[in-house]
Amino acid sequence: MEFLLDTVHLADIKRYQAIIPLSGVTSNPTICKKEGQFPFFEHMREIRQLIGIDKSLHIQVVAQTTAGMVADAHRILAEVDDQVYIKIPTNEAGLAAIKILKAEGVHITATAIYTTIQGLLAIAAGADYIAPYYNRMANMNIDAAEVVQTFAQAIERDQAQTKILAASFHNVAQVTTALAQGAQAVTVGTDILKSGLGMPAINQAVVDFTNDWETTFGAGTTID
Ligand code: E4P
Repeated sequence: MEFLLDTVHLADIKRYQAIIPLSGVTSNPTICKKEGQFPFFEHMREIRQLIGIDKSLHIQVVAQTTAGMVADAHRILAEVDDQVYIKIPTNEAGLAAIKILKAEGVHITATAIYTTIQGLLAIAAGADYIAPYYNRMANMNIDAAEVVQTFAQAIERDQAQTKILAASFHNVAQVTTALAQGAQAVTVGTDILKSGLGMPAINQAVVDFTNDWETTFGAGTTID
């Protein structure tokens, strides 16, 4: 099971790297927009430095043609490093780019997946990860849990190497459902982590434990 951070904010990556068992970082142009304008490749190299080469770093192409996507991928690999997972939207141009880049041995994350057919084609094309857009599917009245389960079954049946990297989450329940349906990986924003780990009930339990300890062993005492 892999947990990735869906952000390019360096302070958040630094903070959550120390808290969660982080497997990598994902980004897309919309996530980058939240940062405001920044030196793109320099920033991506900084993220790599922070997380290390053993964690996966997923960077999305911007071009809309196959040739453009392939060129974007080559530029990313040259400017950042050759271990980056290139995120490619799973449409006609993207699938053609995936074929070309996989033949070159490039790591691929097939993204912008809203439908079963997109994911199945990306699995068959040998994508390393596929990124179903969980909440966006839910917004379109598509049963995202069922779609993820179908991908998991197809991967299992074909013994494919592809991993499901579920993305686009709106709440914690969507994340745990995606994992329960067979996603090997999820990418989440810090808002999801904050709400998952900062529930009032959790905080109250911690306060209650401290109070019970201090009532028994004395205020301010520690465990030793
Ligand atoms: C992964 O990086 C996806 O692009 C991202 O999770 C999409 O999230 P959104 O639907 O909140 O834009």
